[in-house]
Amino acid sequence: MGRQLSAVLSCDTDFVAWRQSQQEAVERALDRWVCAGAPAGLGDAMRYAVLDGGKRLRPLLVLATCEAVGGQAAAAMRAACAVELIHAYSLVHDDMPCMDNDVLRRGKPTVHVQFGEAQALLAGDALQALAFELLVPGDGSMGDAMSARLCRLLALAAGADGMAGGQAVDLASVGVFLDLPSLEAMHRRKTGALLQASVAMGAASGQVASDTQAALAQYGACVGLAFQVVDDILDVTADSATLGKTAGKDAAADKPTFVSLMGLAQAQGYADRVLDQAHDALRRCGLNDTRTLHALADWVGRRVT
Ligand code: IPE
Ligand code: IPE
Ligand code: MG
Ligand code: MG
Ligand code: MG
Repeated sequence: MGRQLSAVLSCDTDFVAWRQSQQEAVERALDRWVCAGAPAGLGDAMRYAVLDGGKRLRPLLVLATCEAVGGQAAAAMRAACAVELIHAYSLVHDDMPCMDNDVLRRGKPTVHVQFGEAQALLAGDALQALAFELLVPGDGSMGDAMSARLCRLLALAAGADGMAGGQAVDLASVGVFLDLPSLEAMHRRKTGALLQASVAMGAASGQVASDTQAALAQYGACVGLAFQVVDDILDVTADSATLGKTAGKDAAADKPTFVSLMGLAQAQGYADRVLDQAHDALRRCGLNDTRTLHALADWVGRRVT
């Protein structure tokens, strides 16, 4: 085996081991923080929406960035779980009949199918509130300035100019042709914003110079955009059993996607180019060890779910 190939393989093995151990740590933290105690079955719906599923990409981005900048691990774990709670809430609402009307998520019936629409709506609401609660620990252990910084980053990414705004554009675009700049703008908001915020929150758990912060922002934006392009591709190329959600929904619902705009091969080429830009941004970010962030970008490009 050539030295270069064996270096790549051992790097891959290190990344897989790192990813699994962090995914387990995130699962344990979420299990602790999302309690079943909320009244009238709400806690069960919240736990169903969050636990035992999902790639946990957003938490992994927070934790990898925290490691790269030498940030505070405890603050980063709270930020990692907070962004995952916002993501989980966005999925619960995204699947509801008034949005994408999906019955399958993470290999299970969607929350509204399992618990009813009102409970699904409330579970999403409560998960969003819990996300911000996690960023303001009652024991003051995070420090007011750090709490405020993380809350602001997450609020901006989740709100009108981020995920929620992007979802509004998505719903308003059914049956509508979107050109490349419009499609990019929609994807940057509906999905990219939370991924970019994950990187920014990881950076905010430490102290970084402003050009490092700018390069990491560029990395997060590229990974976020590429992630949704790959989601569009998988909707066409993968099956429901592998995805754990209904395949073929975008074409059935007449949604504009990168695949409908440019076809499969060009969409994959586009994602690859955007991920190259993510790697470039890391090369000029000035941090010593960005191997895990590089590997996460690669994982986004070649994921199968
Ligand atoms: C799916 O996100 C929804 C999008 C934003 C495209 P993920 O593919 O990260 O879903 P999980 O968390 O792994 O289930
Ligand atoms: C959803 O995008 C993005 C969110 C903000 C939840 P999609 O509607 O394409 O996500 P999937 O394909 O249902 O996971
Ligand atoms: Mg949707
Ligand atoms: Mg959907
Ligand atoms: Mg999709």
